[in-house]
Amino acid sequence: MSEVPVLEVDNVSLSFSGRRILDGVSFEIHRGEFTGLIGSNGVGKTTLLRIVLGLQRPGAGEIRVLGLPLSRHSRSLGYVPQKVVLDPDVPLRARDLVALGLDAHRYGFGRRTKQQRELVDKILCDVDAEHFANSRVGSLSGGEQQRVLIAHALVSQPKLLLLDEPLANLDPKSVQEIVALLHRVSSDHDVAILLSAHEMNALLPVMDRIVYLTEGRAASGTTEEVVRSDVLSKLYGHHVDVLKLHGRVLVVAEPGAEAGDIPDHPTLTVS
Ligand SMILES: Nc1ncnc2c1ncn2[C@@H]1O[C@H](COP(=O)(O)OP(=O)(O)OP(=O)(O)O)[C@@H](O)[C@H]1O
Ligand SMILES: [Mg+2]
Repeated sequence: MSEVPVLEVDNVSLSFSGRRILDGVSFEIHRGEFTGLIGSNGVGKTTLLRIVLGLQRPGAGEIRVLGLPLSRHSRSLGYVPQKVVLDPDVPLRARDLVALGLDAHRYGFGRRTKQQRELVDKILCDVDAEHFANSRVGSLSGGEQQRVLIAHALVSQPKLLLLDEPLANLDPKSVQEIVALLHRVSSDHDVAILLSAHEMNALLPVMDRIVYLTEGRAASGTTEEVVRSDVLSKLYGHHVDVLKLHGRVLVVAEPGAEAGDIPDHPTLTVS
């Protein structure tokens, strides 16, 4: 018998003020898989992640986590939100923020057991954050903060980790480091990953599956199945070419198409 998917998104639709944001989006994530949720600005990535978390009700459709209907406080989900502002003046050390992840599913802070303190130390090491564990989180660099936020989400030992644009605002070296770190963590902790991004190239070496979102519709599968001219042209409703060059993918719109529709255009040319 095949294993129950960690996440099932089944025909999810949502409109805001009569505007259709998600239109029958379906995909599955299986145990330990790394999935990229790729789409341009405003296409609905954050909205979809919030629906998966139970923070936003879909207009239609269903979410199941480990085969069960979503309950809002599911312990199986970890989350790194898109916008986290960490004030440098707040006297909160990196290790304190990680430890707060232990309390995410119950009220109050409580005293830490030795076992919990050891778990926090281990997770800080797992994300290569041990050398700034005692620094104030607000004083850390963007890449360092991202590691601490990942540790915070991991410490409750979820089965699925959702990360909303964790690579935005990082330089190319930090992007590579965080992607490699997530790939390692995913297998060491047996946690599936759903990571949103508007640029897929950095994820190509590690993605098991892709959910490609445009104008409310989604195509999902392996990169080879989805990032193809015929599949993406159908999704966009106009012709796009997919060019593979030096291990990178370029999605190129036909002349006259809106360049802004295409999420992955580091060197996009629309003539
Ligand atoms: N609560 C809301 N009420 C009304 N409209 C909303 C609400 N939340 C999101 N939207 C709209 O839904 C659309 C999708 O937004 P969303 O934040 O999900 O996009 P996104 O893909 O995450 O974009 P970005 O890459 O910029 O983060 C946007 O047009 C946004 O303005
Ligand atoms: Mg977003």
